[in-house]
Amino acid sequence: MVSHTFKSPAETQAWAEKFARTLTRGDVLALIGPLGAGKTTFVQGLAKGLGLKNKVTSPTFALVNEYLSKTKNLYHMDVYRLSERELRAFPLEEYYETGICIIEWGDRLRERWPVETLALHLKPGQGSRRLTIKEITPRWRKRLADLA
Ligand SMILES: Nc1ncnc2c1ncn2[C@@H]1O[C@H](COP(=O)(O)OP(=O)(O)OP(=O)(O)O)[C@@H](O)[C@H]1O
Ligand SMILES: [Mg+2]
Repeated sequence: MVSHTFKSPAETQAWAEKFARTLTRGDVLALIGPLGAGKTTFVQGLAKGLGLKNKVTSPTFALVNEYLSKTKNLYHMDVYRLSERELRAFPLEEYYETGICIIEWGDRLRERWPVETLALHLKPGQGSRRLTIKEITPRWRKRLADLA
């Protein structure tokens, strides 16, 4: 189990930025937490760590924001507003092997997660956010240990 408290958006992003350097194609991350938990803030740090220059905004209308570079693609998804029907039609699996996927409200698609999906839980407090990673599969063990 990994848990961290971030006392500001900058701290959340700094951790995500460091973590991003360990990411490779085929990694799938599910971001779980209520509105305003800091999921998009986390993805902003992640994009910075991946060396992506574009500004990361919430994929509210696009469903998927694609950040493509020569070496790494980042697919940032937010499935909060999708109906059950839209969720079923959403071609999630097409993204899995071509880049790094990070899914806000990923718990809505749990039955379609690849086995090695990393679930990151964000819990809001007074200005702070608590990150918890409960289940760590072999794919992630060393990378997370090296970060701590
Ligand atoms: N420690 C912190 N880490 C991240 N965000 C924080 C923190 N403290 C306060 N905030 C604020 O909380 C808000 C988080 O918003 P953000 O859009 O990242 O949340 P979200 O989880 O993506 O929400 P949504 O479910 O609506 O997409 C921002 O306004 C940010 O400034
Ligand atoms: Mg968001």
